[in-house]
Parts: sequence; structure tokens; C-alpha cells
Amino acid sequence: MPNTENLVKELVQKHGKSRNSLLPVLQGIVKVNRYLSEEAMIFAAKELDLSAAEVYGTASFYTFLNTTPKGKNIIRVCKTISCHMKGKDEIISAIEKSLNIKIGQTTHNKNFTLLATNCLGWCHKGPVMLINDEVYPEITPNKAIEIIESYKKNSVN
Ligand code: FES
Repeated sequence: MPNTENLVKELVQKHGKSRNSLLPVLQGIVKVNRYLSEEAMIFAAKELDLSAAEVYGTASFYTFLNTTPKGKNIIRVCKTISCHMKGKDEIISAIEKSLNIKIGQTTHNKNFTLLATNCLGWCHKGPVMLINDEVYPEITPNKAIEIIESYKKNSVN
């Protein structure tokens, strides 16, 4: 794994030194390091000639840019209006109970992190859950647990 400073340099080289590169650069960091450390944000600001505040602002706006260490599998449940009305609270409670964590937390074995996220663009098929890059539309509490169980089985830990 490249060190963070070199990684940021490589990403800036790849995406170009402009304000528009900020998001792809931050995404690239998360992809490799699994989260965005303060150090990485400062390197990105330096390399892109932006203020640290601007980088923080972008990072905290996008819930996809994790700013704390996360588990191997990231479960995101949409909390926006359509999914809310279709029962996202029940889904979240069922997952919390099954994994024994609260929203925003990571399981002890670092296998799962549970997050709420803004609209994922699947409103017509809510409630929607995302695990890593995989979308699970029209879920029920039971279905959500079944899906998570299948990730547990596939996990080496
Ligand atoms: S409101 Fe949940 S996907 Fe749009």
C-alpha cells in the first residue's frame, strides 16, 4: 500500500491539479485506505492548492467519503423521504439488533459498519440498502437480515 502522501500525489497526477479533481481524489483515497484521514485531507488540500476547510467541507458533505475507520462491509440504508415513508426505520432497527450495533457504529470484528445515507436514486424501489457497491432495493427487515447473513458467510473473519 503506498503511503498516504504518495497516494495523494499519484491521484492528483491522474486526475489533474484542479478543483474538479477533489472528489475523484478523495474517492481514490477512500478506495485504498478505506477511509479519509485528516492527514490525507491535508495532503489533498496541499496538492490541489485548496484550503483544508474546502476539503473538509466536501468530505463531510458526501457521506460516501468515510472520515473514520470503517468495517470491511459498509451497509448504508437510505434515510431520505421516500425510503423513510416505506419503512427505513424498521429496516435500521432490525439490522442494529442483528449486528448488535447502532447506526454509525462498526461491529467488534470490523466486519460491518452501519450508516444512514441520503437518497441513492432508487426512490421508486424503496426502501433501499446498499452494501459496499451493491444495491438492494425493496427490502424488508427480514430480507435485510438474510442479505447481511450471506455477507457474514462469505467473510473470512
Ligand atoms: S429516497 Fe431512498 S433512494 Fe431515494
